[in-house]
Amino acid sequence: MDKLKMLSKNTSDENFKIISNLFPGLITEKVTGYEDDGTPIIEKVIDVDLLNKEISERIVSNNEQRFQFTWPEKIKNIVETNTPIFKTLRPSKEESVNFNKTKNLYLEGDNIEVLKMLQESYLNKIDVIYVDPPYNTGTDILYINDYSDNEDEFGEKYEVDSEGNRLYTNTDTNGRFHTNWLNMIYPRIKLSRNLLSDEGFFLIAIDHNELANLIQVCDEVFGFRNRIAIITVVHKPEGRNQAKFIGPSNEFMLVYAKNESTAKLQKVVLDEEQKKAFGCKDRQGAYRLKNFIRLSDGKYATKESKPNFWYPIYVSPDLKELTLTKKKNYEAVYPVTDTGVERTWKTTSDTFLDRYKEGNIIAKEDNGKIRIFEKLRENQVIRTHWIEKKYHGYHYGTKLLDDLLETKTFDFPKSLYLMRDIVKLFCPKEGIIFDYFSGSSTTAHATMMVNAEDGGNRKFIMSQIPAECDKKSDAYKAGYENICEIGKERIRRAGQKILEDNKDKESIEDLDIGFRVLKTDSSNMKDVYYKPEEISQNFLDTLEDNIKADRSGEDLLFQVMLDLGISLSAKIDLENIDGKEVYIVDDGHLIACFDKDIDDDLVTKLAKKEPVFVVFRDSSMKSDSSLNNFDQIFKRLSPETTRKVI
Ligand SMILES: C[S@@+](CC[C@H](N)C(=O)[O-])C[C@H]1O[C@@H](n2cnc3c(N)ncnc32)[C@H](O)[C@@H]1O
Repeated sequence: MDKLKMLSKNTSDENFKIISNLFPGLITEKVTGYEDDGTPIIEKVIDVDLLNKEISERIVSNNEQRFQFTWPEKIKNIVETNTPIFKTLRPSKEESVNFNKTKNLYLEGDNIEVLKMLQESYLNKIDVIYVDPPYNTGTDILYINDYSDNEDEFGEKYEVDSEGNRLYTNTDTNGRFHTNWLNMIYPRIKLSRNLLSDEGFFLIAIDHNELANLIQVCDEVFGFRNRIAIITVVHKPEGRNQAKFIGPSNEFMLVYAKNESTAKLQKVVLDEEQKKAFGCKDRQGAYRLKNFIRLSDGKYATKESKPNFWYPIYVSPDLKELTLTKKKNYEAVYPVTDTGVERTWKTTSDTFLDRYKEGNIIAKEDNGKIRIFEKLRENQVIRTHWIEKKYHGYHYGTKLLDDLLETKTFDFPKSLYLMRDIVKLFCPKEGIIFDYFSGSSTTAHATMMVNAEDGGNRKFIMSQIPAECDKKSDAYKAGYENICEIGKERIRRAGQKILEDNKDKESIEDLDIGFRVLKTDSSNMKDVYYKPEEISQNFLDTLEDNIKADRSGEDLLFQVMLDLGISLSAKIDLENIDGKEVYIVDDGHLIACFDKDIDDDLVTKLAKKEPVFVVFRDSSMKSDSSLNNFDQIFKRLSPETTRKVI
């Protein structure tokens, strides 16, 4: 039976696989190290010289000039992005809401670790990633990427918070000002792209400080062609008062598609003014009535300037039938105003019939006169300047949150209505939206709100580091020790409020206002078993168990789910079979039992359920014969099942 690796994905291994699938002839073998006894370790590698030849002239190397964006430590940063981590996500049922039923997630911890751990379970699965990172204004706290377990390297330079996160206030007097910020943002964006589905979008908020650098980074990761828009969001129309020259009143939102040829926006009209103009509604949606063509200079077209648009329409006495053929008792109506001024219809006689059949041309009687109108449908026009009042940060971000939590808790949350429009426009009704700088959880609030409005079933994933609240702050005094506590409480209260506000809506009780809380932590597994190269064999022999003493069955289950690429919101049933705790995930997709003394009877019962994966503990079989029988039983009853141990 194979042993699970219990490490986050090594993304450079994935890149290796992609290149070797495209060019199998490039694979060769080389000595990459030596065993303790001197035996060479030989591994498959890519022959870069051959790769260059495959691509022929279209390469650039060494010091040749090229277009590039770089900064000190970029290369180190790329390598570190691909390096796996030895961590896990542990469930916290007490802090969750509807743990068993919800499909929403709240992931507590440094987002670089969260992103690395999600690389299997959410590969190509996320529809929208929206992030609002620290803008690097000169006072931002950056959490230093910590891929190693080595505390000493930076120990002197960085503070460590109570959770052990290394933090650093990045001031602009610091020589590494931009380097630090780029080192922080680049790997996160790179890992984000892997998670997006082919239809998906990546959106990132930023202000003028790092705009130029961020565009370069995103262009590099997503490709310039996938840059869909740079949207200007007016969040503080009065501008910042203390500005020396010009007080910024707007910020930006960069929008990238994973693949612009397959990405799709949802059909919605965001502009409130436009919505008001389309005041009528029928089964096809909102519309307004127009009768005659008006030209761009404001004047009306005439019979002379547009002769194709001038013709009689024959209307039946009950106004229900319109035709271009003369009929008995049908009245001929011309494009003429009440006062007899000649105009033109909005449609030529050639296209009239199609528009009429679509239900878009109607006749009405007005003061004894028949008038003919065309229905103009509401158009989806998404502009690059989002200036409406609903996007302003103070009233619809800060104030709204203060009211909901009944105290001042969080500086500069996004406007709820900004996030609502983003959810509506970018996330399909059954989609997943992921915000890994989630702060006060505005994105979660907006997702539930939009689902309540249109009956959608969008799921959210929030991720936030438990950054400590200042002891002198109102938030701390109100009992919030860190930002995660603010974010989670907001979701709890917002969910209740949305239910209350929509209590008369059909099926509102089905709205998912829950969330599963999972927290990053060191691996459940003792290092010796999973990093044997670092530990001597003798030491290994002295240990009995490979699992840390304080870890529960559910802790193990979630690490297994991460390893096997199973969604963290999958349904989990705990059954007692023959006195053992058996986890049945996703109605039998995965079956896991971490109890000891497993016998043939239990193995037979589980094999009969024919799971896709079955996982046991390495040392869990009752006897050596059970271990031998295990494989035989599965081969006989469920040969397709992938069998693993931890
Ligand atoms: C600008 S705020 C986001 C505000 C959010 N859009 C809202 O409406 O409430 C950025 C958030 O990212 C968090 N953060 C910063 N570095 C992080 C990291 N490495 N991992 C997770 N969260 C982080 C900060 O604590 C802060 O809450």
